[in-house]
Amino acid sequence: MCGIFAYLNYNVARERRYILEVLFNGLRRLEYRGYDSAGISVDSSYFYVGCEDHCGNSCKPLPPLVFRQEGNIDSLVRSVYEEVATTDLNLEESFPIHAGIAHTRWATHGEPAPRNSHPQSSGSENDFLVVHNGVITNYEVLKETLVRHGFTFESETDTEVIPKLAKFVFDKANEGEGDQTVTFSQVVIEVMRHLEGAYALIFKSRHYPNELIACKRGSPLLLGVKELNEDKGTGASFHDVKFLTNSGQPKELFFSSDAQALVEHTKKVLVIEDGEVVHLKDGDVTILKFDNDKGKSKGGHTRPASVQRALSVLEMEVEQINKGKYEHYMQKEIHEQPESLTTTMRGRLIRGGSCKAKSVLLGGIKDHLKTIRRSRRIVFIGCGTSYNAALASRPILEELCGIPVTMEIASDLLDRLGPIYREDTVVFVSQSGETADTLLALEYALENGALCVGITNTVGSAIARNTHCGVHINAGCEIGVASTKAYTSQIVVMVMLALAIGDDTISNQTRRESIIDGLFELPSKVREVLKLDQEMKDLAKELMSEQSLLVFGRGYNYATALEGALKVKEVALMHSEGILAGEMKHGPLALVDENLPIVVIATHDACFSKQQSVIQQLHARKGRLIVMCSKGEASLVCPGGSCRVIEVPQVVDCIQPVVNIVPLQGHFLKTSGDLRKKIKHSDESESRECGRK
Ligand code: F6R
Repeated sequence: MCGIFAYLNYNVARERRYILEVLFNGLRRLEYRGYDSAGISVDSSYFYVGCEDHCGNSCKPLPPLVFRQEGNIDSLVRSVYEEVATTDLNLEESFPIHAGIAHTRWATHGEPAPRNSHPQSSGSENDFLVVHNGVITNYEVLKETLVRHGFTFESETDTEVIPKLAKFVFDKANEGEGDQTVTFSQVVIEVMRHLEGAYALIFKSRHYPNELIACKRGSPLLLGVKELNEDKGTGASFHDVKFLTNSGQPKELFFSSDAQALVEHTKKVLVIEDGEVVHLKDGDVTILKFDNDKGKSKGGHTRPASVQRALSVLEMEVEQINKGKYEHYMQKEIHEQPESLTTTMRGRLIRGGSCKAKSVLLGGIKDHLKTIRRSRRIVFIGCGTSYNAALASRPILEELCGIPVTMEIASDLLDRLGPIYREDTVVFVSQSGETADTLLALEYALENGALCVGITNTVGSAIARNTHCGVHINAGCEIGVASTKAYTSQIVVMVMLALAIGDDTISNQTRRESIIDGLFELPSKVREVLKLDQEMKDLAKELMSEQSLLVFGRGYNYATALEGALKVKEVALMHSEGILAGEMKHGPLALVDENLPIVVIATHDACFSKQQSVIQQLHARKGRLIVMCSKGEASLVCPGGSCRVIEVPQVVDCIQPVVNIVPLQGHFLKTSGDLRKKIKHSDESESRECGRK
């Protein structure tokens, strides 16, 4: 996914070199999301074209500088300094106010190349520059119109229409008059009226020096505020809306698509909402709310209303964004799981007492439990790993709550416009809380009147804000693009959800208590399974050269098969398929021979004997088997030692998927030197695009 970062220093002198480094560093923090090119824009200098004394208001400042490069951030940095060295640009020139923008791009429209990288420009004079995350769906129509008005396009991107449209609007507004009559936010709002699709945008303009405008619809964007003289500050607490107005105090303002790029500068943030236009000018932050749809439905344009917002505190520590002793973030996050699971459960499991039952307390949904218990069905909605986590939790929800549970992949629900009813409880599962498909499905469920519950890892995310109630998984910031610790914490939260909903039934109390005991022990069991590290590395090394890997699971561990295969695909770039073992006879058996490696999940639960039978049938076909079983049961799954066995600690059946997934999470990446070469431009991390957002 693309990344946006912007930095504006106000009333504090910063040299050009410093500004460049802040922008580069911001981009480095966004690297983990995957990208193939990057770019930045900074000001050239204070000199004005056509102005003798360097200060005439009617004169145009020199066009901002734009640097764009294919490849990683280091190649962008190199190219910027090389280019600067060939000019007389002074890196030590100091700017008391300056607005810079930056972007990492993952190609969607047009190949990775400098011309397709952002900032995209309105033309050779860089009157308007834009960095963009998302997709403009009506760009072709806009492009045709702009071409008719004489604009020429250099890139194949959808984004290029935005700065060109801004220039068109600006020029039209100023036709016949020399002076600037239209404000920057009026230009941007007019541009927004014409855009369809999802976007987070930042505008920089030569006509509005030292100002920035951000706006969004569908893609995440944050504003970070750092007051440099806080003790002498505005007199307002930063929770106060007045904090955002200018006191003349020196400050630094940041925009970012991702909290990771802000946390080292400030924890004071504003989560920008859809339709908001945030204008940074003269140290002030002005927010306008723009509702295009409302305007359209009334057959005209609504006027954007000014809104007041207070800042909130980012719940993230700088240490969380460091890799520590680990080679890459994914490895770090896999090893963090004993701690992340502990944090997920902290304060939520009640041990009971001599005459009190053990129970679960989920503050975010306790007032809605009665409604959930009365629902006609529970519908889980998610994408990728989050969907798999929900799938792993489905059996225990059905068992403890007696409510039918259906599963929906967000995009598929939207494609079918599947039925969602007022009597449904719809549970949205998402690590980021910002996944576009899941968000659209949430809008759809809200329109249909269902009770919407959010399960996310990101406080303040769109899903957390827009659902009626929910539970934060509290797994800590997940930077590795392939989700690991969020998956295990999501399962634990959904098991706790089942315990909370089923808490009104006496008949399952013993079962519930044994699950709660199991949850208490879970972090230590995960610590134990992490010791298989070397064994899994060796296995991964053997399998690395294979073309394909099948993973069979059933019951609680059907999800383990899907998630294990997804991780292998994502991190080993190898074909892998998770298969419901009960379906083996209905087609997949045809694939089995002595070459194709097959992982069978056969830890001890109610499906164990059925899995033993699957193993026998695979043996009969001379299958090359790797069986995951409970500790001490190797001889039951692999008589005569004919297959490779991974023995894992046994826990209560419904949380066994948490233990079972760990050996399959990251080893294929860790072992392969070749693989690291395959991953584009990610010296810093293992990150790639994985279809998120
Ligand atoms: C796979 C992975 C993705 C995400 C999916 C949904 O490792 O990370 O499949 O799970 O893109 O993302 P969230 O959970 O943020 O909604």
